[in-house]
Amino acid sequence: MLLTLPSVLSSEEISVAQDLLGKGRFVDGKLSAGQEAVRVKNNTELQAQDELMTPLNNLVMGKLVRNPVYQAAALPAGVAAPFYARYTEGMRYGNHVDDPVMGQANQRYRSDISITIFLNAPEDYDGGELVIVSNFGEQSVKLNAGDAVMYPSSSTHRVNEVTRGERLVAVTWCQSMVRDAAQRELLYNLSLARDELIARDATAGATQRVSNAYTNLVRMWAEL
Ligand code: NI
Repeated sequence: MLLTLPSVLSSEEISVAQDLLGKGRFVDGKLSAGQEAVRVKNNTELQAQDELMTPLNNLVMGKLVRNPVYQAAALPAGVAAPFYARYTEGMRYGNHVDDPVMGQANQRYRSDISITIFLNAPEDYDGGELVIVSNFGEQSVKLNAGDAVMYPSSSTHRVNEVTRGERLVAVTWCQSMVRDAAQRELLYNLSLARDELIARDATAGATQRVSNAYTNLVRMWAEL
């Protein structure tokens, strides 16, 4: 399931993030690439030790993890510290799948869901689309500043070459309590139905039964 999260960050928060990123030191993205990705990755990333990381992460990740759509769709067990990537003219990231296991030796996590948060406006650059290959063909994603997209980390994806301007994104990965993408999609749709029923009549028998079914399916499938 490919899902868009609108307005994870407000325009004021985007300005703050852009100011912080403007002071950062960006290094070759190949330094953080896995074995497969290193051959096709051509971008720059905020240096990992940069002191700007903490305020940026508090802002960007703080907003992501409090986003109700993210919570319902990802059912997160944990989320990684993001990379902040900058693509200038001529940069791209060819087709790849993300590494299955990430993190330092004592903090390993499985990447179930990949998340890109767009940190500047689509008018700021040409090209630079995130293209995700699905069973239904390729889906091209280029969102407004502050919006995010989440998709299964098992999907082949790429970033098209930026042919003008600059593309700024935060990229992160989530390990879900529910490993199977089809189960997660089912639970997300059931949670939407439950929310609709609660809004209509919270005490109705059908509302209670759907809500109980959702709760107990999460209990059946969640792994911690
Ligand atoms: Ni990737």
